[in-house]
Amino acid sequence: MTETVLITGCSSGIGRETAHAFLEDGWEVYATARNPADVEALGEAGANIATLDVTDEDDVERVVERMIDEEGRVDCLVNNAGYAQLGPVEDVPVESVEDQFAVNVYGPHRLVREVLPHMRERQTGTIVNVSSVAGRLATPGMGVYSGSKFAMEGITDSLRPEVADHGIDVVLVEPGPVDTAFTERANDELQGVERSDGYDTLYSILDDSEAIGGGGPGSVSPREVAETILDAANLSDPADRYPVGQVAKVTLLARFIPAKLRDKFFGLLFSLVAKNPLGE
Ligand SMILES: NC(=O)c1ccc[n+]([C@@H]2O[C@H](COP(=O)([O-])OP(=O)(O)OC[C@H]3O[C@@H](n4cnc5c(N)ncnc54)[C@H](OP(=O)(O)O)[C@@H]3O)[C@@H](O)[C@H]2O)c1
Repeated sequence: MTETVLITGCSSGIGRETAHAFLEDGWEVYATARNPADVEALGEAGANIATLDVTDEDDVERVVERMIDEEGRVDCLVNNAGYAQLGPVEDVPVESVEDQFAVNVYGPHRLVREVLPHMRERQTGTIVNVSSVAGRLATPGMGVYSGSKFAMEGITDSLRPEVADHGIDVVLVEPGPVDTAFTERANDELQGVERSDGYDTLYSILDDSEAIGGGGPGSVSPREVAETILDAANLSDPADRYPVGQVAKVTLLARFIPAKLRDKFFGLLFSLVAKNPLGE
């Protein structure tokens, strides 16, 4: 029987590539996006397309019900939709923090709650949560985004053993920088932050899009992340987490450096950038 997958955030980047990768592997794909026009091409390629804003309870219920009506099963859920709210912690308004958690944390949780009863009934399934290396190591200017991905990692680590006895696998995929529209969206969110005095050097680093990810040195293609997600879904006993790309692997090692030393490194970096501004 053909296996079924529900993927969020297929309008671009990792989500779109993941939908293509599953299609090419013969899965029945439900490719979702906030704006259905953004996934029309995936529909033409053979995916079932649906409108799904992860912050909308009705959207989530409707899409999962439709999958159960049409296929009788959800074999895999890929919680991919997400974005980064950048800015120094002090400057990011509380509403923006709430919006960030609504998409990156409450959205995936909502989807997990909707699919699990069906997966438990069949005693099989895989949930892949797309986190980030920022969900393991927090850096200045990314506190709110990191907070949301740390939350996703914590929830996922609890969920995995909770559902293991029901035959359900739960996996974290942790990319470093990926060449997608992610950085553009992060820049847009950053421009919406009212800048207080005192963080000029940090802002100059954040304003330099290459310094924060996608498209910069060391970034990987969305295809590479998509293939990692597909491999995890196809394995009968996947690992708990999959870092993607060299930057992710090296950055994860930095977790073992004592926090005080890491802070010193950032202090040094800030003083270097203050003396030699980026792009000059
Ligand atoms: N690119 C990177 O460097 C990188 C690194 C590590 C982790 N990640 C993670 O990878 C995931 C995918 O990001 P990407 O790189 O592919 O960026 P992207 O090209 O900007 O794609 C993000 C996707 O999330 C969707 N989305 C945002 N808010 C949504 C909502 N409320 N409901 C449903 N969909 C929503 C976007 O849809 P719209 O087009 O409608 O906005 C878009 O389809 C994210 O979770 C991100 O945190 C990315």
